[in-house]
Amino acid sequence: MLRPMRVELTPGTVALVAGGPGDPDLLTLAACRALEQADVVLYDYLAPDVAGLVRSGTELIAVGKRPRSTDATSQDDINALLVAQAKAGRRVVRLKGGDNYVFGRGGEEWLHCADAGVPVIVIPGVTSATSAPAFAGIPVTHRSLSQGFTVVSGHAAPGHATSTIDWRALARSGTTLVLLMGVKNLAAIAAELRDGGLSSDTPAAIVSSAFGETASVVRGTLATIADQAVSAGVRPPSIVVIGAVAGLDLS
Ligand SMILES: C[S@@+](CC[C@H](N)C(=O)[O-])C[C@H]1O[C@@H](n2cnc3c(N)ncnc32)[C@H](O)[C@@H]1O
Repeated sequence: MLRPMRVELTPGTVALVAGGPGDPDLLTLAACRALEQADVVLYDYLAPDVAGLVRSGTELIAVGKRPRSTDATSQDDINALLVAQAKAGRRVVRLKGGDNYVFGRGGEEWLHCADAGVPVIVIPGVTSATSAPAFAGIPVTHRSLSQGFTVVSGHAAPGHATSTIDWRALARSGTTLVLLMGVKNLAAIAAELRDGGLSSDTPAAIVSSAFGETASVVRGTLATIADQAVSAGVRPPSIVVIGAVAGLDLS
């Protein structure tokens, strides 16, 4: 059902709240209202620190998930915890980095809560897919350079059984490519894009830990960026931008 945005967390409700790309200043007003009402906040490692935005007594529970770590709570356990907290009559905020519906498993969590009869509200917000490039001075579209952008996960390597992305078609899309979780497979992705016809000279940039104290940017071309990532020791969270706009530096 389509409803206007109204943030009212009644007891027993779960709110899927976008935490934005790391800086609490990039939370929406709706997110702040939900946090003020929360009895419990389940947050991921990329979510901003919201300790100063909740009532005293609000429980803050870290539920992972750091890339390649073993300390994360499993998705099944997170789903179960959301439902258990709501069924206990608490106002529950599920806080993710960026937007919950952009590689954030928000859809899975919504369905799990709904199946269990738990009311859910969704508070969208600022995704790293556009804000991390902006932080580095890269607009994902720019008149005369790019008429669109494509956001994809680089988590599954090209050709891997779990990959559903046609990288060669993306090479011909004429759009800016924004890769999330793409550093590990960057060499293979860049090779596939080149094989698909994207010029080796195409500007490329990697924005790491945008809005954080360890933020960094690596700039190169499609031909060089994967090696540069290795030499620079690029770590998650990082976003790769490929396309003419990656040659801009509006910072
Ligand atoms: C599981 S996805 C979650 C995306 C998130 N829901 C969003 O909308 O931004 C995690 C990936 O987002 C990207 N990411 C999130 N925050 C970032 C940041 N502050 N700087 C750079 N990349 C970031 C990285 O590609 C990271 O591996």
